[in-house]
Amino acid sequence: MNVNNSVAASAHWRIEDIDFSAANTRISVEDPVMLWLAAASSFIESASDIYTVNLVEYFDDDEEISGWLASHWESEELQHGRALRAYVEAAWPEFDWEAAFKAFLVDYSKLCSVEVLGPTHTLELASRCVIETGTSTLYRAIRDATQDPALRQVADHIQRDEVRHYKYFYNFFRRYNAKGGTSRWAIAKILLARVQEIRDSDTICALSHIRDGCIDSTGDAVPHVGGQHGLPDAVEMHKLITARLRHHYPLNAAAKMLLAPLALPAPARNLASGVINAAARTSLVWSLL
Ligand SMILES: [Fe+2]
Ligand SMILES: [Fe+2]
Repeated sequence: MNVNNSVAASAHWRIEDIDFSAANTRISVEDPVMLWLAAASSFIESASDIYTVNLVEYFDDDEEISGWLASHWESEELQHGRALRAYVEAAWPEFDWEAAFKAFLVDYSKLCSVEVLGPTHTLELASRCVIETGTSTLYRAIRDATQDPALRQVADHIQRDEVRHYKYFYNFFRRYNAKGGTSRWAIAKILLARVQEIRDSDTICALSHIRDGCIDSTGDAVPHVGGQHGLPDAVEMHKLITARLRHHYPLNAAAKMLLAPLALPAPARNLASGVINAAARTSLVWSLL
């Protein structure tokens, strides 16, 4: 893939063109779960530069990949963070985004280190395909699930970017994988490990700081947020988000994207896709994502 063909960073859509005045300012009462998810996503996207430094360093012997990461991928991910932040601040002015994000960064930066990147370039690129599968399908689900026109617009822009990121990482992966030396089993193991990591780390970390930000200095919940019934803990918030998105999640697209790096022959691919779909119906996958 020719990086020069990529859309100049962030030139394809602009935050200024999104109508944030259309944001539902009652979403913290009417659909707080969706608001938590938008806020958590705004934190993770806004911290992309921490991860980019590690990735660029990791791929510093590959000019094409490190160049794309530094000059395109990073700026687009940071734009996602700014757009989501602008949405959260428009829809939820009671929430002190800046203070909660600062606290989040202290914990999140500990999760991002060169050591957690894949053992080889091939396997790290397979991992990145999992991450971009997760983000592209998540924003697609947000777009389809929300009734807030401003959030729908933001999520639609972002999901298109994330699909494109997936395609870049997938093509980089294929270039490295063609050199040989990486078994299908090793790729399968790293894909599964990355899916499991998604559950444990970033989102729960972000949600715990959103929860902290929902409590004012007297220990009371910020007005409206979480309702009168108190705020669940971060793990419970995550479960509520999963339940909220469940019927909107594009499972077939996720299965297809996750399985692509394995380059399975058609019968095995169909079988694996069937297993993923069956597992999702029994909540196995949803306990992982
Ligand atoms: Fe993103
Ligand atoms: Fe991305």
